[in-house]
Amino acid sequence: MYEAFYQLEHTPFTRDIPPEYLYESHAMADSLGRLAYVADRQLFAVVTADAGCGKSTLIRKFAASLPRDSYILLYLSDSKLTPRWFYKGMLDQLGLESRFYRGDAKRQLQKEIEIIRGVQGKKVVCVLDEAHLLEKETLEEFRFLLNYKYDSMSPLALVLVGQTELWTDKLRLQRYAAVRQRIDIRCVLPHLDRSEAAQYIQSHLEYAGCSRDIFSDKAMDEVFKVSTGIPRLINRICEKSLMYGSQQQKRIIDDHMVRFVVGHEMQEGGE
Ligand SMILES: Nc1ncnc2c1ncn2[C@@H]1O[C@H](COP(=O)(O)OP(=O)(O)O)[C@@H](O)[C@H]1O
Ligand SMILES: [Mg+2]
Repeated sequence: MYEAFYQLEHTPFTRDIPPEYLYESHAMADSLGRLAYVADRQLFAVVTADAGCGKSTLIRKFAASLPRDSYILLYLSDSKLTPRWFYKGMLDQLGLESRFYRGDAKRQLQKEIEIIRGVQGKKVVCVLDEAHLLEKETLEEFRFLLNYKYDSMSPLALVLVGQTELWTDKLRLQRYAAVRQRIDIRCVLPHLDRSEAAQYIQSHLEYAGCSRDIFSDKAMDEVFKVSTGIPRLINRICEKSLMYGSQQQKRIIDDHMVRFVVGHEMQEGGE
């Protein structure tokens, strides 16, 4: 398909780019540094960003960066998690069958984490993705998980990852004060700016083995304008533009082509 026309070795705008080829914006580098600190000090962090801005990608890179001999990462992204399912999900990942009642499951998990810390000498990092969908009861439950040995220590690092409304419609509000007050670190991934968007596009093309410019400067302006700097939308627009460009046998994609693609091919639904 278009890969052959543009002499690309891989599909450039795909979601399974190996962690080392991901584009590292300033905000991403900053967040990775903070998360490493959160893991080491066993803190409570909240990561928010608009949909498609790279939250799950950040976590993928963070997970790849954690040394396996000193950390165990538990990752859950089941949006309908009740407290009981949260404990079950964590215990499942540790290869254990959860006890039925919430209180029992909680104690089981706490005990297991103590063993991991004490016997294996590893630190536990728990990441909950899509946390904007969690119910208040589940968010509140984390207080009890973090509240340990009369608050003298935290048994694990906990990272809540969610869309912007996790902060604006939930944690920021007074009725979540008890959870919010425990947050040690907040990370926000903003939309990319114009120059980051260009670097982002270029880094995907480089990953695909392309050594020349395919998108003109004005095409990049157009991609940036339509996507508002959201990586997921940049991917879609660029992918469709490459398909269209190869059909038209155009080696350079200009702004007219991007406009055409956006107007004609991107009407129905999102990813
Ligand atoms: N830093 C990045 N480098 C490469 N691709 C990225 C990056 N950030 C986001 N993407 C791509 O953008 C898309 C959306 O990212 P994702 O992490 O799923 O967003 P979110 O979890 O915030 O909704 C994915 O296909 C992902 O591959
Ligand atoms: Mg995500």
